[in-house]
Amino acid sequence: MDERRALRGHGVGLRHPHYDDFFRATPEVDFVEAVTENYLAPGGRPLAALMHVRRELPVALHGVSLSVGSVEPLDERYLVALKDLVKRVEPVWVTDHLSWGRRGGHYAHDLWPMPFTEEAVRHVASRVRQVQDFLGRRIALENVSSYAEYRASTLTEWDFLNAVVREADCRILLDVNNIFVSTANQGFSPERYLDAVDASRVVQLHLAGYSDEGTHLVDTHDAPVFDGVWALYERAVERFGPVATLIEWDDRLPPLERLVDESRKARRVEAQVLARGKRVAG
Ligand SMILES: [Fe+2]
Repeated sequence: MDERRALRGHGVGLRHPHYDDFFRATPEVDFVEAVTENYLAPGGRPLAALMHVRRELPVALHGVSLSVGSVEPLDERYLVALKDLVKRVEPVWVTDHLSWGRRGGHYAHDLWPMPFTEEAVRHVASRVRQVQDFLGRRIALENVSSYAEYRASTLTEWDFLNAVVREADCRILLDVNNIFVSTANQGFSPERYLDAVDASRVVQLHLAGYSDEGTHLVDTHDAPVFDGVWALYERAVERFGPVATLIEWDDRLPPLERLVDESRKARRVEAQVLARGKRVAG
């Protein structure tokens, strides 16, 4: 299956304060994204809610614990549980982050960026291949937001991302907000980043809100999408065409209808860009 064309449209995240809403009525969205780790335990209300949603809508599974960039071996128990969940849910995509967060068997609650080096490309790509071989399907990796860069880095972030996904033969979940946050924090152009991403690999986009700490932006997912990110989303649609787009909202969570409204806005923005018919080369 060509995952690029598996699904288009607009989605929201499945979050536990909204389970009752999902049980009551299916929201007007094209897909739902569920955070993998919340559904690994067999049974219970979370899985019941997810399976209910799955009967109504396509589901994407979005993980935070793969830690594909760490140096210690992949967590086999996690992979077995993930494979079971994938079998049960038959998600449209299985995604996680191009980051590391596991050391000495302990998980950090952060998604730390990678040093952008050739050595790290080979390391991460071989681990992604292991994961894909084990799951029997491709995954997509998401670019994380960053607040500084490693002195060891020899590649740009976008060259690193492209090199990893080509060598691993996986897909990209491109978080437009994370590009905005990282480039604002590090003083480079978000357009240059976006324009350099390998369009043939992008299967899904994320939009979210950040918080402005004065000296830097933090990727907090606790607010509506800001104007600068909407402008970058327009450019993303010009560049990639209609790609499935998710509104991420995790903290200070509003009613489900507010999330759906935000995804309607993304739908309108996408439609306007497509109607203009302008495409960014590349
Ligand atoms: Fe994201």
